[in-house]
Amino acid sequence: MRILVVGGAGYIGSHMCKLLAGAGHEVVVADNLGTGHREAVQWGPLVEVSIGDVAALGPVFDRYRFDAVMHFAAYSLVAESVTDPFKYYQNNVAATLALLRVMRDKGVARFVFSSTAAVFGEPQQELIDEAHPVVPINPYGASKLMVERVLADAAAAYGLRAVALRYFNAAGADPEGLIGESHEPESHLIPRLLRRAAGDTLDVKIFGSDYPTPDGTCIRDYIHVNDLCAAHLLALEYLDGHAGFHSFNLGNGTGYSVRQVVTAVEAVIGRSLGIESAARRPGDPARLVASSALAREVLGWRPALADLQTIIASAWRWHQAPKF
Ligand code: UFG
Repeated sequence: MRILVVGGAGYIGSHMCKLLAGAGHEVVVADNLGTGHREAVQWGPLVEVSIGDVAALGPVFDRYRFDAVMHFAAYSLVAESVTDPFKYYQNNVAATLALLRVMRDKGVARFVFSSTAAVFGEPQQELIDEAHPVVPINPYGASKLMVERVLADAAAAYGLRAVALRYFNAAGADPEGLIGESHEPESHLIPRLLRRAAGDTLDVKIFGSDYPTPDGTCIRDYIHVNDLCAAHLLALEYLDGHAGFHSFNLGNGTGYSVRQVVTAVEAVIGRSLGIESAARRPGDPARLVASSALAREVLGWRPALADLQTIIASAWRWHQAPKF
């Protein structure tokens, strides 16, 4: 298939391009390089375009005649979404709507969308499955949920076939070290710890040690970026035989506390980082762990890099010699 990877210069999008190319698909990247990296585009041509730019997107669709679109381009900082919600609704919702309109007009019916655990809001159960209520507590999560709603309606009205994949905590990097996670600023726990380990002066603290968890720090479900991408490939195949809109949660189903992550990072790098605790970061739920039973059952998805130290080691390889 020929696939448009929107946001293919970013962290998860670039890993997706590598996997797609390896599976024999043809990849075209659309990215405005707002947060993505030109150097991460290695598996197909880069079209520098913003997804909200309908006039520029149309000719790209005419030229390449895509079989499917995968959409990774979004702002994803929870705190920023609270202080600047228009930025999130404009890019994550309005611009995505423009992209979907072009797809409809050009007759491209398959869409795989990057959604998030943030659509659920405060967790109400140990393992979050697809039946968990969706009550986002910040504009980032709301923006992703709005697109999911748009996809369901577009599936009913226009015959769009769409899958939304709700990621828990994406982590790790290409095991070959060609691409990796490079955000500015970096807010995520594992890359912050690894940057510090690699000599960055970044001041990394544990945000909150008084949560109702066994060691008092927040628990998350870390999932290797390649395992996320593998689910996208399965979702694409699934859309061949299934009309409509479908959503799946993607995590390993195992929670690790921030302290456990710090310990695992120290084990991988072979020394202590001397990380101290600080106040809670506003908006962090105590525990977010996925049930991915549905993705396993329906898509046949099996995470291959589920071990936390394996995930961290792949990221460490990148952070020791980042290429962008
Ligand atoms: N943390 C620290 N110190 C740091 C950075 C993070 O203690 O320097 C903690 C956080 O407080 C949190 C955990 O590490 O408890 C994980 O934080 P991340 O920022 O790495 O990831 P989040 O769980 O906050 O974010 C993820 C996705 C978001 C999504 C969110 C949903 O990356 O896109 O889950 O809650 F919105």
